[in-house]
Amino acid sequence: MAWSASQYVKFEDERTRPARDLLAQVPLDRVSKAIDLGCGPGNSTELIIDRYGKEGVSGLDSDLNMLEAARKRLPGTTFTHADLATWQQDEPADLLFANAVFQWLPNHFDIFDRLMDGLTRGGVLAVQMPDNLGEPTHLLMEESAHVGQWKTAFEKKSVRRNPLSPPSAYYSRLIGKCARLDIWHTIYNHPMADAAAIVEWVKATGLMPYLTAAGDEHREAFLADYLARVEKAYPKMADGRVLLRFPRIFMVAVKG
Ligand SMILES: C[S@@+](CC[C@H](N)C(=O)[O-])C[C@H]1O[C@@H](n2cnc3c(N)ncnc32)[C@H](O)[C@@H]1O
Repeated sequence: MAWSASQYVKFEDERTRPARDLLAQVPLDRVSKAIDLGCGPGNSTELIIDRYGKEGVSGLDSDLNMLEAARKRLPGTTFTHADLATWQQDEPADLLFANAVFQWLPNHFDIFDRLMDGLTRGGVLAVQMPDNLGEPTHLLMEESAHVGQWKTAFEKKSVRRNPLSPPSAYYSRLIGKCARLDIWHTIYNHPMADAAAIVEWVKATGLMPYLTAAGDEHREAFLADYLARVEKAYPKMADGRVLLRFPRIFMVAVKG
């Protein structure tokens, strides 16, 4: 998938709020090495720097367009091009921060294990993942995928993300390496201008694999079909706007 930093930052305030909420629960007064995993355009890295200073803070991402935006935003901060599926840490860190990236990695359980081993004692793995596959935004992508001229592309191969596991599964897998493990869900309700704004939001993230599979030839027709469904599923509120319900799971694991 090719990410677009400019599309992603269209809703930067709303997208950064969970990163802020996650960082607020990190029980560290200072860090000597912190890495922002899946740093995107550097919005989450900037929060870490605002809290701890820029010494020892770096970012990592697999997408060159995102890395270019992050480097422009935070000159002087190191941003590394790497895939978290295979990335090997060079030295222990106090903070491994991952806002909205691990939902894209189906084997994230194994990666979490490895990341816990890469922490100093008392170090923190902080993770937030959207838990929204059951929301209309995501159910309707699947509906759109299976109608229209593009549907053969989706018959061959599903592009749906793997569902997340329940909190109990993350707890059981991580607790053996933790002094403390805090897991919670938050459901945000973002007021959006209209259904088209919801489509703009997911175009930068969840909808990307669908648009890629549908191909350039069908892109506009797919979007029109999807927008019509989103319009029906998100009624206007008293002020004319629509509410985007957005559940997310958070984990703060302190290494024992
Ligand atoms: C939704 S953005 C999150 C950006 C930022 N952390 C934030 O808080 O808004 C997800 C980022 O994860 C990156 N990403 C996805 N899969 C990745 C992988 N396997 N390895 C490294 N980065 C990955 C994407 O390139 C994208 O920049």
